[in-house]
Amino acid sequence: MQPKPTDRLELPRPDTISANHSLKVAAAIRVAIDAGGGSISFAEYMQHALYTPGLGYYSAGATKFGAAGDFITAPEISPLFGAVLARQSAFVLEQLGGGDILEPGAGTGALAVSILGKLDELGALPQRYLILEASPDLQERQEKRLSAEAPEYLSRVSWISSLPGDFSGVVIANEVADALPVERFRINEGKVLQARVLVEDSRFSWTFTDAPSTLEDAVRSIEADLGIPFEDGYESEVSLSMRHWVSDLATAITSGFVFMIDYGLPRREYYAHERSRGWLRCHFRHHAHNDPLILPGIQDLTSWVDFTAVAEAASLAGMTIGGYVTQADLLLCGGMQDELAGFAALSVEEQAKLSGQIKLLTLPAEMGENFKCIGLSRGDLTAPPALTSSDRTHRL
Ligand SMILES: C[S@@+](CC[C@H](N)C(=O)[O-])C[C@H]1O[C@@H](n2cnc3c(N)ncnc32)[C@H](O)[C@@H]1O
Repeated sequence: MQPKPTDRLELPRPDTISANHSLKVAAAIRVAIDAGGGSISFAEYMQHALYTPGLGYYSAGATKFGAAGDFITAPEISPLFGAVLARQSAFVLEQLGGGDILEPGAGTGALAVSILGKLDELGALPQRYLILEASPDLQERQEKRLSAEAPEYLSRVSWISSLPGDFSGVVIANEVADALPVERFRINEGKVLQARVLVEDSRFSWTFTDAPSTLEDAVRSIEADLGIPFEDGYESEVSLSMRHWVSDLATAITSGFVFMIDYGLPRREYYAHERSRGWLRCHFRHHAHNDPLILPGIQDLTSWVDFTAVAEAASLAGMTIGGYVTQADLLLCGGMQDELAGFAALSVEEQAKLSGQIKLLTLPAEMGENFKCIGLSRGDLTAPPALTSSDRTHRL
């Protein structure tokens, strides 16, 4: 969930251990900058800051999730989120006559715990629950959480280090696409420039140079799709790595359905005239701000998702769009009411707690509208009900 934006000056000071860790991450990025001839693309900077083994924000031991961390995600807010996704997964698994579940980027393991518990209740446990996690630190946390909270399902869970070759089942990726490195670009006198990071006065700083052809082609194809060139000075992001990730995922699936949930928009809104500074956001101790070059390795870097690009990458890889809905519609049309059948029997405190969770997950000013779910399908499958009642695919 995205915290409300904060003035950079109001950011809390990192504690000594975090500040020292950030210095080590900065030193590793400097080595990469030297090796890159004096600068690296912003996408490379983001990759290093988040994923350098043993150092990056996701790869090392930062708390990340929850009240003591930097942000909170839907599965951490409430098991209702996983219960609805389990219902929708059961609908797909039944059509497939069984299959596996694959969760890339499983965070603390909260979603896996709630999905497995609900699928068991529905009599629809998958043969295997595969977790593909880029972060060794999070993999360790996932194993601990599953061992403590869902030991009965551990024999079905395995951690994989690359995509399986012939996957059949359901893929659930919550807030993974936004964590993939993005390129930043700026338009200058009609030319596409690439944002790069260098060291200036002992600090990381921006420089802009002619974009490589991959980035230029991507920006030109967005302009062609919008039917209007970007104006001078316009800055935004393009996630080339997200396109590769979707394409690799799609190629790995022989039959099945992907639920991809994230904050994002259709291309026309993402690259709107008034959005001329892009969608990159940084999260530090529940404060959101816009400077990715500070606090390397101890703050989250993330960018909203261009869902039209997701749909394009999936279609190119031969998948069909099985729906595109807001998170509120996903939950409300996906069986959340059924999950609340026992609400009246709860204590007043429990009712208040659950109501608070439902508000966070569904209200438009919270996660309800900004977060979307896109469904991607391979094979002759009927899209699950949560994605069909209020489908907005026509907006992509
Ligand atoms: C913002 S967290 C979301 C975690 C979790 N899905 C949740 O909703 O709480 C992003 C997750 O994606 C993982 N990740 C990033 N790149 C990945 C990749 N290429 N493959 C698999 N996981 C990845 C991170 O390590 C982290 O677990």
